[in-house]
Amino acid sequence: MQLNGAHVVLTGASGGLGIALAHALHAEGAQLLLCGRDAGRLGALRTSLGANAQVLLADLTQPADIERVATEAANFGADLLINNAGISGYGLLAQQPWAVIDAVLQINLIAPIRLTHTMLPHLVRKPAAAVVMVGSIFGSLPFAGFAAYSSAKAGLRGFSQALRRELADTPVEVFYFAPRAIDTALNSPAARRLNATLGNTQDAPEQVARRIVQSLHGTRYEHHLGFPERLFSWINGLNPRWIDRGVAAKLSAIKRIASEERA
Ligand SMILES: NC(=O)c1ccc[n+]([C@@H]2O[C@H](COP(=O)([O-])OP(=O)(O)OC[C@H]3O[C@@H](n4cnc5c(N)ncnc54)[C@H](OP(=O)(O)O)[C@@H]3O)[C@@H](O)[C@H]2O)c1
Repeated sequence: MQLNGAHVVLTGASGGLGIALAHALHAEGAQLLLCGRDAGRLGALRTSLGANAQVLLADLTQPADIERVATEAANFGADLLINNAGISGYGLLAQQPWAVIDAVLQINLIAPIRLTHTMLPHLVRKPAAAVVMVGSIFGSLPFAGFAAYSSAKAGLRGFSQALRRELADTPVEVFYFAPRAIDTALNSPAARRLNATLGNTQDAPEQVARRIVQSLHGTRYEHHLGFPERLFSWINGLNPRWIDRGVAAKLSAIKRIASEERA
């Protein structure tokens, strides 16, 4: 995908990875439509980017806002949609209120499918276009303490694969990225403690953004970022039983720190 001069709609632009993606795309010469809810952070980002960036406030849990983003995106001449907005939800399923589970599914799975669906009639008319999904390693390596989040990201991965196959005779490419933990506000203090306890590496958002933007030039459409997480997700695809054993060894820490999150 040619990024110089591309018109990019970026959701979650006010977040840790979104800000880094905006800078990396801007450096490639892309024009940006920055979507999010936090007007202050989006305004500061637009100011730091200077030209070639505009802001659109939208809550992606609201169907009317998704319609509005799609309309603005068509007027903007979008040829690239990056579904990056997301929330986490560390906790044991039985102890989580349904509202939390529902929000995790809405924002991480339903919203990207719905926004893609609404923008697709516009994108297929472009000579070259792409839809990018920011998933998670937990989409391929579902983890205890993250049942709803893992389900949403696994769903997003399935959506990406099915859509890529469905759009194979159109100009629209479909990318799926599965980062491991990233050092952003998405991770609550308890999630950070869990990562530290389990020895999980947290990548810098700028490093992940660079990898994503570089990969958009190529034709490999699915990327799992980070080793050994990439290897473990591949093993999980071969035989989840092997991963069950490894996660079982960590379960007491996952449960203990999850209950600290609730306290
Ligand atoms: N951080 C990690 O460890 C990690 C690891 C793997 C994958 N990821 C994925 O990377 C992506 C970006 O996450 P991040 O780490 O940058 O998190 P972040 O810093 O918390 O940013 C999340 C972004 O999502 C937006 N968002 C949340 N709810 C929204 C809603 N209802 N409507 C519109 N926008 C909404 C936020 O916008 P406002 O603040 O303006 O509301 C913010 O821009 C997510 O898809 C996440 O699942 C993150």
